Amino acid sequence: KQQINIGMLGLGTVGSGVFQVLKENQEELEKRSGLPILIKSIVVRELEKERLVEVPSELLSTDAASVVNDPDIDIVVEVMGGIEGTKDLLLTAFRNGKSVVTANKDLIAEHGDELTLEATRNGCDFLYEASVGGGIPIIRPLRKDLAGNRIHEVMGIVNGTTNYILTRMTQSGMAFEDALKEAQDLGYAEANPASDVEGWDAGRKIAIVASLAFNSRVNFPDVDTEGITSITARDIEYAKELGYAIKLIGCAKETDTGKISAQVFPALVPLDHPLASVNGAYNAIFVRGNAIGQAMFLGLGAGQMPTASAVVGDIVEAVRNFHAGTRGKFLVDCYHKKEVQSSLE
Ligand code: NDP
Ligand code: HSE
Repeated sequence: KQQINIGMLGLGTVGSGVFQVLKENQEELEKRSGLPILIKSIVVRELEKERLVEVPSELLSTDAASVVNDPDIDIVVEVMGGIEGTKDLLLTAFRNGKSVVTANKDLIAEHGDELTLEATRNGCDFLYEASVGGGIPIIRPLRKDLAGNRIHEVMGIVNGTTNYILTRMTQSGMAFEDALKEAQDLGYAEANPASDVEGWDAGRKIAIVASLAFNSRVNFPDVDTEGITSITARDIEYAKELGYAIKLIGCAKETDTGKISAQVFPALVPLDHPLASVNGAYNAIFVRGNAIGQAMFLGLGAGQMPTASAVVGDIVEAVRNFHAGTRGKFLVDCYHKKEVQSSLE
């Protein structure tokens, strides 16, 4: 191969960040990955919409099927969201021998096993570092760097929007709705922000990391989920007086009996605990393993450029694998269904 051609699905908050990073860091990325990386086409919903980045109009199209079927495209970068239709597009991409990079946690939490299987069958890479923790490396560490551990627990703040809202309510006395509007304007929130504030986004992320951490398959409905919609300014004030911050915490553990328990819930965090000072759109994830003890991953968990950082990191890995002939050589064994324990037990 002389170069790698990318087909992008989506040019919104994340997609425009990916476009910008690929452009700005072009030379460096070629050195790092071994091949020039070119964007061949970008699929959007509305061709005439004003964009966050300047993009040559001839790159834009509304035809996603033609991108996943285009023999010249090597890597499909899916940053448009959606579940069923998007799954079908990515399955087609794998059947056509393309590697896929995605930030779509809804899709992975729902159909990650089916997609991983199809990628593996077709010798393609399927990479999704941006799906949890925005710019923080957590998927790759769980898959690779921490693979020597028996993991006991993964826990922390995994949704930037809710952490931003709680921070603004705590530090500036801002109303919930105003803080949510700010988070949306900053590009942190999901297309349907109920997904953030009801805790579903965090629940999906916990399902993804639990599947990797416990070498199992944890589905979103297995995660007991509560969001932050019932948290009032008064709750925050009382908590502070008592020496606590309110944070939306996601947590997955393997119990002594080998079952997995997974929850998302607003928690009182003592002010001297490291999670209490994780503010704004920052996320922090603790991993507890039998060899490493405890490791903490901290960084911006949402937004255009941090998320683009993770997506482009995956693109570099996919390009290296093309270059080295090592595509699709990993096999993540997440098909052993372990029993998931309800928190009500
Ligand atoms: P946006 O809504 O900003 O962008 C979505 C893009 O996809 C838009 O360009 C839109 O086109 C295009 N699109 C959507 N549906 C279709 C369709 N059916 N056909 C063609 N194009 C389509 O979303 P984000 O960039 O915020 O998020 C993208 C993905 O990344 C989601 O899966 C999200 O969960 C995930 N993610 C987001 C993060 C964030 O901080 N925002 C962080 C981590 C992951 P048009 O512009 O014409 O409307
Ligand atoms: N809406 C998500 C969040 C984006 O706020 O965390 C990052 O996954």
